[in-house]
Amino acid sequence: MNNIEDILQYIDNLMFEETESNLTPIEKTILTGVWQKQAYSIIAKNFHCSESKIKQEAAKLWKKLGQVLGEDINSDNVRSRVEKKYRVSQASHSGDCLLLDNINIGGQFIQTNNYRQEHFKPPQPKHQTPIIDLTKVPELNYNYGRNSEVTTLKEWILENKTRLITIYGLSGIGKTALTLKLISEIKTEFDYIIYRSLDHLPQLITLKDKLKQFFSQSQSNPLPEIIDYFNSSRCLLIIDDVDNIFQFGNLAGQYLTEYKDYSKFFQQIATSSHQSCLILISSAKPPDIETLEIQNKHTKTLHLQGLGKDAKAILREKGLKDEDKWDELIRLYQGHPDWLNIIILTIIEFFNGKVSLFITANDDLFLGDIEALLENHLERLSELENKVINWLATQNEPIDIFQKPADFELSNARFLQIIQSLTRRCLVEKVLREEGVKFQLNSLLKVYLDMK
Ligand SMILES: Nc1ncnc2c1ncn2[C@@H]1O[C@H](COP(=O)(O)OP(=O)(O)OP(=O)(O)O)[C@@H](O)[C@H]1O
Ligand SMILES: [Mg+2]
Repeated sequence: MNNIEDILQYIDNLMFEETESNLTPIEKTILTGVWQKQAYSIIAKNFHCSESKIKQEAAKLWKKLGQVLGEDINSDNVRSRVEKKYRVSQASHSGDCLLLDNINIGGQFIQTNNYRQEHFKPPQPKHQTPIIDLTKVPELNYNYGRNSEVTTLKEWILENKTRLITIYGLSGIGKTALTLKLISEIKTEFDYIIYRSLDHLPQLITLKDKLKQFFSQSQSNPLPEIIDYFNSSRCLLIIDDVDNIFQFGNLAGQYLTEYKDYSKFFQQIATSSHQSCLILISSAKPPDIETLEIQNKHTKTLHLQGLGKDAKAILREKGLKDEDKWDELIRLYQGHPDWLNIIILTIIEFFNGKVSLFITANDDLFLGDIEALLENHLERLSELENKVINWLATQNEPIDIFQKPADFELSNARFLQIIQSLTRRCLVEKVLREEGVKFQLNSLLKVYLDMK
């Protein structure tokens, strides 16, 4: 992704040329928010106005921008459409040559997307200056903690030569942020590093073409397949938002029919011999990857959980008060950085930043805008998963795998399959008890379903 400041300036210039008026503050806030994948409700909070006002203004903005760009624009496509135009405009200003600069990421993540007038550099000697393309990475400003996860991932990649790693966890838990931190620490170990998201559902062939273009830029002879580049150089490929190519309304991790070839591609990376690594990022653990993990020692998965005590840095940075209550707040919201960010806004706005007031004022756990994020998870479930999850919400103790709802016409095997799928989605958690493994619904989701 390009720098949002540059994009705003670019859109502002375009608008001014066409309409002789600049972007208004609310329009800039909407664009910035949409760029960061924020819901309108969050943008409204940031601008201190109602959600309906933001919706109204956004609709007008998309229409205006659509006229300026000569395309249909909406909140879903604005980023890709504008970025495409922006790239073309930059390339035409700079002799058509895109050179992705080496980056220096230190704590904060700086994306580089430099266009230069000279042509590509001659091939780089291996391990000296990695060629990095993080242009499609979302802008994530803060990255606290995660030291043990980074250590584990480094060990898998550098010592165990793991070829396929899947990082999975609830949406907003910090998977992309963690991966960026990892990249900043291992970038010198690779010849090429490239990040791509499946946000816009690219066909595998399209993605492969883009990757080949990238990997071939410093080589005199293009190679036929991605795996050939993985073999001849040390490549780190990150594919984010893999859950976009999974079906809605089916069990977790079932590929959409037209995207089944991705599974074969992942399998090829895991099972062929090479010196590179593919990191997949998904909110659910795909079953095919689970099978690979059992069969193949070069495949690993990391279930990413909350930030724990490290989340205090977020509260500190936002200037919250009552430090003695921070542990409790982090526990209630599971150290989930996105959920905490939402709650922090409410605490600042309605409780003047006082955490103790917020906690005592809420007899039930306050969810606010987190509800919309939970709904996104629920929307993906199959009918049976939905039934089981609603039943789990009525259970106050972790359940045994044989303890299925009496009024469900469901075989034990089917019930187990549903629980397994919900666990893969991180909505149901395993609890280890002396008597054996038990299962319970995520506590925040339970509060939400109880309220519904
Ligand atoms: N370690 C961290 N320290 C501070 N903030 C963090 C951290 N990790 C994530 N965040 C914040 O939480 C939000 C969500 O993070 P991120 O986008 O990485 O989550 P994700 O798991 O990739 O979500 P999704 O599944 O929706 O892509 C971001 O606003 C990010 O800045
Ligand atoms: Mg992400």
